[in-house]
Parts: sequence; structure tokens; C-alpha cells
Amino acid sequence: MSHCHTPVVQPGASDLLPKLETPELLARVEELIRRYPVPRSALLPVLWLAQEALGWLPQEAIKWAAQKCQVSPVHAYGVSTFYTMYKKEPTGRFFVQICQNVACHILGAEPVIAHAEKVLGISSDGGTTSDNLFTLLRVECLGACGNGPVLQINDDFATDIVDGKLAMPVGVGLNAERFDRIVAWCRDRAKSLSKEPNRDSLGGLFHTAGHPGATGATNQVQKAYSPVPPALGVAASRTDDGKVKLTWRVAPEVTALHIEKKSGEEFTVVASLSGKDKEWLDEAPQGTEYRVVTETVLGRAKASSPATAPAAKGA
Ligand code: FES
Repeated sequence: MSHCHTPVVQPGASDLLPKLETPELLARVEELIRRYPVPRSALLPVLWLAQEALGWLPQEAIKWAAQKCQVSPVHAYGVSTFYTMYKKEPTGRFFVQICQNVACHILGAEPVIAHAEKVLGISSDGGTTSDNLFTLLRVECLGACGNGPVLQINDDFATDIVDGKLAMPVGVGLNAERFDRIVAWCRDRAKSLSKEPNRDSLGGLFHTAGHPGATGATNQVQKAYSPVPPALGVAASRTDDGKVKLTWRVAPEVTALHIEKKSGEEFTVVASLSGKDKEWLDEAPQGTEYRVVTETVLGRAKASSPATAPAAKGA
């Protein structure tokens, strides 16, 4: 955000750590880091978790993410400033981003932005209403150009309210009237949110670590926002008694494994095992191809790369 407001007061580590070092958040960080060969690869999602927990990314939170991912604080800061989705200052509960890019511009974004500024009484360079409900920001392409002009409110696209929900019906772009409906919907929603814990001085659209179904989030619960980890290092060898031995490595969250064997042009499942199994034996000629498909509670991964049965020992 390119705000030109008074400098942001940076909370200290003692304010932030109780919100970041919760058992849930630490478990999620650990799980993210485990997915990659080196901890630094998890920096983007770990920064995102910190932002979810706090509503924005204070400098101490960036340092915390850096320490978890074993990178220098300045490296993490550079990453966080490169991506505009990381917020360097608190926003209102409803963070309204209106696209001003080419397609939306041609389809009438400017009059809508002008209307939004007037209705909310704030500027579109990141202004926040005095009741802390709305922050308004003009942004570049949101990737929904066919429905322009569009806005994003927290994590959701919206061009209208349909059946009491934020919606983006195909071909229905934003206009002043629809913008007003969206604002009225937000105000209405804020009334029901008032029974929930208030955001504290640190800001925070989300009160808990649960993205994206956390209290106050406007979006729908997603089952997952990361793919099921596939089996790695799938290899086929021969045992002393001539059987094909298939081995692999999987992530701890894998609950089941399916062994696929090629017959003709197709791979078909020939065995289903537990996620704890580490090998499987078969009788098959040289050149037989196998793949392993992992499964977690979230679904199935893509099949692994194929492994080919070698010749029998001494053959
Ligand atoms: S130009 Fe507005 S969403 Fe792409």
C-alpha cells in the first residue's frame, strides 16, 4: 500500500509473540517448513500465517518469520515488501481494493472509485474510515478482468450482493449502486461481528490462525490451499529371491498410498497401503513400470514419477 499517513506505530516483540507463538500457529509453521527441502522455501506462507494472525505484518512479525525460516530479517523484509499482498500497516475490518487497471478502467472503474471515495469519505490511496470499518485502495489488475470493474474485499471478489452474500455474477461489473449494496452488506455484517472479540490495537482482519474461515473472514472455508504432497524417490529394485521391491518417501500427513502398475498404455491401481508403509513387493518382469499415488485427508496427490523394474539379479 502506498499510504502517505502518519508513520505506523510498530508493536514490540512482547506484544506480538503471544499471538504468534501459539501451539496451533507453531504446528502450522512446522508443517509448512517440513514440505520443503530447506526452511527458507516456506517464507512466503509463514509470512502469510503471521499476517493472518495479526491482520498485518509489523516488523517484529517479519523478524519472527525470518527466524523460523532461517533467513536474515532483511531478506524476509525484502520479500514482504516485494509482494503487495503483505500489509505493512493495519487496515479496517473490510479492506476494499478496487481495480484501476486497463480492462476495469475501460469498463468504468474511475467513476466507481470516485463514488467509493465520496461514500466512505476517504481517499483511495489506502484511507481508513474513522470507525475502522473500511480501508479503500485502488490497485492494479486483480485477475478478474472479464467482470470489470471489480473489487476485492478482504479475500473475496465482489461486484454485487446476491442472496445476502458477496457475489461476482458473470458479466456483472461494479457500479455505484452495486457498490452501495456491498457497503451496506459490510455494515450489516459488522453488527453481527461486534459480539466477537474486537480487533485490538494491532489490527487484524482475522482473529485466529485459521485461514480462511477465521472469525471475521468474509470468504468461504476452503479445504486446503496447498497441494497434497506426492511420493518422492519412488524406486524399484530386486530382492534376492527375484521379487520387484518398490520403495518411496512420503510426508507424515499421508494416510494412504496407492500403487499403480502399467498394463498396456494405462496405469491401474494394484494395491492400496497405509501411509506408514515403506515398501511393496511384486512379481513382475524387467521393464514393468510403477507409480505411487499419495492420499491425505484433503485428497489425492498427482502420481509420482514412474519407476521401472530392473532385471533379476544374476539374470
Ligand atoms: S483489469 Fe481489473 S481485474 Fe484485470
